[in-house]
Order: sequence, then structure tokens, then C-alpha cells
Amino acid sequence: MKARSVGIIGTGKYVPERVLTNAELETMVETNDEWIVSRTGIRERHIAAPEQATSDLAYEAAVRALKSAGITAENLELIIVATVTPDMTFPSTACILQEKLGAKKAAAFDLSAACSGFVYSLAVANGFIQTGMYSNALVIGADTLSRITDYTDRNTCVLFGDGAGAVVLGEVPEGRGFLSFDLGAEGAGGELLKLEGGGSRYPASAETIQSGKHFIYMNGREVFKFAVRVMGTATEEVLRKAGKDKSEIDLFVPHQANIRIIQSAMQRLDLPEEKCVINVDKYANTSAASIPLALVEAAEEGRVQAGDTVLLVGFGGGLTWGASVLVW
Ligand SMILES: CC(C)(COP(=O)(O)OP(=O)(O)OC[C@H]1O[C@@H](n2cnc3c(N)ncnc32)[C@H](O)[C@@H]1OP(=O)(O)O)[C@@H](O)C(=O)NCCC(=O)NCCS
Repeated sequence: MKARSVGIIGTGKYVPERVLTNAELETMVETNDEWIVSRTGIRERHIAAPEQATSDLAYEAAVRALKSAGITAENLELIIVATVTPDMTFPSTACILQEKLGAKKAAAFDLSAACSGFVYSLAVANGFIQTGMYSNALVIGADTLSRITDYTDRNTCVLFGDGAGAVVLGEVPEGRGFLSFDLGAEGAGGELLKLEGGGSRYPASAETIQSGKHFIYMNGREVFKFAVRVMGTATEEVLRKAGKDKSEIDLFVPHQANIRIIQSAMQRLDLPEEKCVINVDKYANTSAASIPLALVEAAEEGRVQAGDTVLLVGFGGGLTWGASVLVW
């Protein structure tokens, strides 16, 4: 029996209202707009209100995605939330969301693969639907990185923002939907990007708070090198698996961490700027939300038409990477 074709049948996104500009960051740490824009391409980022947690951002994106798919929450069968900033250790953010949505029939769990989490989650949901275990799935990338960012550390605080992007997956006509995935990990690089505090290794204590273990730690230079390398190799591999040439890409949706990393990938693919989605200037790095925010925004702007070939690729803590080729 031929495997079912699975694709995206609904999209939604949400960013919190509050905008934190580079000018405002200049008043918080020793930095300046020129440095941030030239090194990262970021101009501003959205920050969750004090009462908003990751499930609240995810909820807003989810409601929009379900509406656009024409699926009611009651008919939803699976919810996967990719996040590294869950509302709490447990229950999972996906279970909290299941309750908020009233999606009583849906199985629900979180997936942890940092900024690659959304593509990992797409691959998991695609597998469930292909095998017939479920007929639809809500896949969300949502993160509230502002809650784990040290706003006295200029090396990291300029880079991150909050947001959520959601898609509904379902069966699509043959020839459409996901053609290939390439997922990977290099656990040896785990030390380069991490948050150590609050887990079973370093449970929360006065000492973990004092030593900054509840904030993101990052070795920017080494992560940059990893990112440029895997954006290239993952892209080539996922195209090979899909049987597509780079010239066939209609829309390139890279993880929005740094404009220089995106540009290096575009050069390697020989891609003109109009085929690449770039919104890192407005949202900064929103971790698992980054790729769906970019994809959903492009779809809302009419930049992708039925039948277009779309390539998603991202990298993140773990270290991890994930790429996919799909026909819209
Ligand atoms: C973080 C990053 C933007 C730094 O850019 P860079 O060009 O590599 O800069 P460097 O690390 O060489 O640092 C250059 C100098 O700028 C300084 N600097 C760092 N942040 C700064 C800021 N916000 N404002 C001003 N100066 C800053 C550093 O202290 C360093 O000074 P020094 O040379 O006196 O030590 C870049 O390394 C990066 O984007 N890395 C990948 C990060 C990423 O994608 N993370 C998420 C993964 S999902």
C-alpha cells in the first residue's frame, strides 16, 4: 500500500504585542543599534506580557491554524508543541493547550529539540498520519525565550524574542505535502548552547540562581560555525532525499537566528533574495517558533502558491538540525 501524502492544511501565528527595540536595549546593556543590525540583522523583537506563558502564545496561533484548516478542536487527534520554554516542567505545554482548546480527543505531548523542534515535530506528526494512526495533527513551535534570557548579558539578550507559529497537518492529494526530512543531532556540541538550571542535574536552588544557571548560555562563535555548516549539509541532504535540485526551490524558509547565517545558506543554494523568507529583523530568534512564524507569514503574504516547492531548514541547541522539502 502506498503511504498517504501528508501536508499543511492550515496555518496560524501569534506574537505578543510588546516590541523591544534595539534603541531600548541600548539603555539596558552596552550595545548599539549599528552593532546589532550589522552582526545579526535584528532590529526589534516581541516580548510576552508578564501574564503570558508559552501555552498562551501557542493557543493564539493554534486557534488561527484550526480556523484556517476548517477543523474544530473537538476533531483534532494529535497536538505536538515544540518548545524549550514550557509553561512548567510538567504537565506538558501540549496538555495545557489541549485543555485550553477543548481538544478532548487529541493525544498531546511536547518535543524538545530547541530551534529545530518545529521541523522535528513536523516529521513526527507526518509519520503518525502516514501510518494511519491519526488523520490530523496540530504542530506548534512556541517559545518565550525572554523568560530565560539574561538582560544584563549583551552577548545573548539582543538575539532573542517570543512568539508562536502553528500548522495543521492532514492528508493531501498525491504529489503534494512532505517529500523528505533530514533530522540530526551532534550531542557533543551540547555545551555550546544550554540552560542547565532547574533540571535533575542542577535542581533549582539559591546557588543555581546566583550562578545564572537559569539563563541561556551560548558560545556564539562556535554555534555560528555549526549553523553555517549544517544549514548547507542539511539542505543538500534533504534535497537529495526529495529528488529535487536547488534550482527547483520556490520558497526557502530558514531558521531566523542571524541574517549572516541565512545569507551564507542562500549563497550556497544560489538563491535570489525574493525566494527567501527573512523576518529576523522584526522578531529576532524565537527558537522553535522561528520557522513556522516565517512560513506562516510568507503564506499570509501570498508568497507561496499551491504546487510550490518549499524548503525548511533550521539548527539549534542539542546541537540539532532539521530540514524538510514539501510541495505546498
Ligand atoms: C552572537 C553573534 C551575533 C556574535 O557575532 P560575532 O560577529 O560572532 O561577534 P563575536 O563573537 O566575534 O564578538 C565580537 C565582539 O562583540 C562584542 N559583543 C557581543 N555582543 C555585543 C552586543 N550586543 N553589542 C556590542 N558588542 C557586542 C563581544 O563582546 C566581542 O567583543 P570582544 O572582541 O572585545 O570580546 C554570532 O556569533 C552569532 O549569531 N552566533 C550564532 C548565534 C545563534 O544563532 N544562536 C542561536 C542558535 S539557535
